[in-house]
Amino acid sequence: MKTCLITGTTNGIGLATARSLAEAGLNVVMATRNLPQASLVGDRLKKTTGNNNVSIISCDLSSLDSVWLCAQTFLETHDRLDLLINNAGMMTGNRELSTEGIELTFATNYLGPYLLTRLLMGTLKQSNDGRIVNVTSNIHKMVRNLPLEDLTGGNRYGGMLAYARSKLANVMSTFSLASLLAGTSVTANCLHPGIVASNLLPENTPLLRFAGKLVRRVMWNAERGSQTSIHLALSEELKGVSGKYFGANTREAVPSALARDHKAQQELWRFSERLLSNHSGFAWETDLYRTETSR
Ligand SMILES: NC(=O)c1ccc[n+]([C@@H]2O[C@H](COP(=O)([O-])OP(=O)(O)OC[C@H]3O[C@@H](n4cnc5c(N)ncnc54)[C@H](OP(=O)(O)O)[C@@H]3O)[C@@H](O)[C@H]2O)c1
Repeated sequence: MKTCLITGTTNGIGLATARSLAEAGLNVVMATRNLPQASLVGDRLKKTTGNNNVSIISCDLSSLDSVWLCAQTFLETHDRLDLLINNAGMMTGNRELSTEGIELTFATNYLGPYLLTRLLMGTLKQSNDGRIVNVTSNIHKMVRNLPLEDLTGGNRYGGMLAYARSKLANVMSTFSLASLLAGTSVTANCLHPGIVASNLLPENTPLLRFAGKLVRRVMWNAERGSQTSIHLALSEELKGVSGKYFGANTREAVPSALARDHKAQQELWRFSERLLSNHSGFAWETDLYRTETSR
């Protein structure tokens, strides 16, 4: 039985994706910071799908320590991982910092999932069809630069811009991962799920609540928004396909020029590795690009 670890399943696209994976008979492990809600979701999924192999594991993606603990717990309790779906995401109108002092959107949407992926890459390689699926967004195309020197988001913070930058980082790191994993059994792809009615949009002012109500009418539901994730996770025709960006219609799409910029990808990768290796405990080969070229 294939095992999948998926983040962000308490609601929205992640919940719909987890349901389909459970229906498909996978062992579904849901990584969550919201244990009570995830527990309710888990019970409901077991009941409605008849699949009892649904479990939860604690993980707050905004905290490197929590992600580290999640990966260690997973590795101690599971002997295989075939599919990692980095689905969880957030957006906030106000600038906030993570426990490690990093702008919260970048920490949650990019750095945490990046660390989780790095920590689980070894076990994914043991699967004969290991897949990494990163849920990103078309909004990454609005970004003109990725200022890695402003990690706290202190310079001219904007919620939408911070979100778009984190999603650009998702696309770039997917491409880096794919090239680094070339020649192994593991693939890495990313996707835009569509414009989906979910809890993602911040609704902390009456105007945003009003706007949210209006736009929800024309948005897709979560089931429709989960189709590309499910396609990338399960489709036989995608076995061995890696380093691609897919649109909401399950077809391959074109990411922004910046996302495809190899130099920018390397800078982000090296920056991320340095950042994580500075954080105590994360001591691995820090320059995978160097490893790649010296192979
Ligand atoms: N909706 C759209 O139109 C749209 C468009 C493009 C891309 N996306 C992407 O699709 C993905 C799913 O979004 P959605 O629309 O389904 O949003 P959603 O309904 O708000 O669901 C987000 C999920 O992420 C989890 N999450 C948030 N912060 C977390 C943290 N620090 N640690 C662990 N889990 C956390 C939430 O769990 P809690 O219960 O703990 O809050 C929730 O389960 C995101 O990556 C988003 O960027 C969405």
